[in-house]
Amino acid sequence: KIYPVILSGGAGTRLWPLSRAVLPKQLLPIVADKTMLQDTALRVAGLPGLQAPLVVCGNDHRFMVAEQLRAAGITPLGILLEPVGRNTAPAVAAAAHYLKAIDPEAVMLVLPADHVIENTEAFKEAVLRAAALVKEGGLATFGIVPQSPETGYGYIRRGAALAGCEGCYQVERFVEKPDVETARAFVADGGYYWNSGMFMFAAERYLAELAKFAPGIADAAEQAMRSGYRDLDFCRLDEAAFTACPSDSIDYAVMEHTDNAVVVPADIGWNDVGSWSALWEVQAKDENGNAQRGDVYLDGVRNSLVRAESRIVAVVGLDDVVVVETNDAVLVAHKNAVQRVKQVVDHLKSKE
Ligand code: GDD
Ligand code: MG
Repeated sequence: KIYPVILSGGAGTRLWPLSRAVLPKQLLPIVADKTMLQDTALRVAGLPGLQAPLVVCGNDHRFMVAEQLRAAGITPLGILLEPVGRNTAPAVAAAAHYLKAIDPEAVMLVLPADHVIENTEAFKEAVLRAAALVKEGGLATFGIVPQSPETGYGYIRRGAALAGCEGCYQVERFVEKPDVETARAFVADGGYYWNSGMFMFAAERYLAELAKFAPGIADAAEQAMRSGYRDLDFCRLDEAAFTACPSDSIDYAVMEHTDNAVVVPADIGWNDVGSWSALWEVQAKDENGNAQRGDVYLDGVRNSLVRAESRIVAVVGLDDVVVVETNDAVLVAHKNAVQRVKQVVDHLKSKE
C-alpha cells in the first residue's frame, strides 16, 4: 500500500510578507481558493492504491492543519507533530517509523505541501509508474526538465534506462543545490533533471539507507518516535529525542549518497512557488500580464504582481514589479530581485 506523507514544515520566507512563521505559505490560499496543503491532499485523494495521507508538521501549526484538512473533506491517517524543525531527513524518518508500525511493507509517497502541479493526470501517472520501481527496492525521484540554472534545486543525472518502467532511469548522480557555474553546466549537458522534491520508497528501504549514511538522524528519529505519544488526534514526537536529532535534508543526508535512486521524468506543470516571481508565473494574469489580488488599481503597469490584503493599492507607470501589501508590512520589489526577499526576513529576525 502507498501512503502519502505530506511535509508541511517549511517557512516559505521568500514569500514574505504574506508567508510568516505563524502562517507559512502552505497554509495560505496563495495560488488558488484552497490552501496549498489542501490542494496537495486533494491531489492524491482517490488515486488507486493510495491510502489517507500522513501529515508531518510543527506543533504550532497543528490546529490549522487539522482544520484545513477537515474543511477539504480529508480524513488524514494521522498528523505527526515535530516539537522543533529538524529539516526533512528526520521528518521523513519519523513518518517511516509511524507507517512501518501500521504496515511493515508501507510505501511512502513524500510530498511537499507547497508545490503547484498543473497537470494532475500526468502526476498520477508518474506516481503509478514509480510504484513499479519502488517494488524492486528503488528510491524514486520525480525529475523535471530544467528551465534555467536554478541553484535552489537538486540536480539528477540520469543513468541507465530501466526495464519495467519505460522512460525511467537509474540515477547516476544526485547533486543538491550546486553553485551557479555547476548548475549551468548541468543544464547545458541535457542529461540532468531538477529534483522535484517528491519521493517514493518503501519505509523500510528509506530507514535502511538513512541508517547507512546518517546513523545519528536514524537513531534520534527512531527514539523520538518510540518515546512519542498520542494526544487527541495528533501523534507527538518526543521533544528531548527530536531536539537532539541532527538537522539535515533528505537530499543531502540520503539522496546524494544512495546507489538505489531512480528517476521518473515527470512533465506535470510543476512549480515550487519558491518566490514571488514563481508565483507570478503560475497565477492567472490579465491582458497586461498582471497578476492581481484584492483592492488594486493599476494604470500603465505590465507583467507585475500586485496584491492588497487590507488597503487599496495603486500602482502607476511601472513594469515588472512586485507589490504586496499586508496589515503590518509592505513589500515593493523588482520582479528580477525577489530572491533577495529572504534577506529581508533574515534582517527582521536579527532585529528581534
Ligand atoms: N514537516 C517538516 N519539517 N517539513 C519540512 C521541514 C521540517 O523540518 N523542512 C522543510 N519541510 C517541508 C517544506 O515545507 C517543503 O514542503 C519541503 O519540506 C521541502 O523543504 P524546502 O526547505 O522547501 O526544500 P528546498 O526547496 O530547499 O529543496 C527541496 O525541494 C526542491 C524542489 O522544490 C529539495 O528536495 C531539492 O532537491 C528540490 O529541488
Ligand atoms: Mg522548497
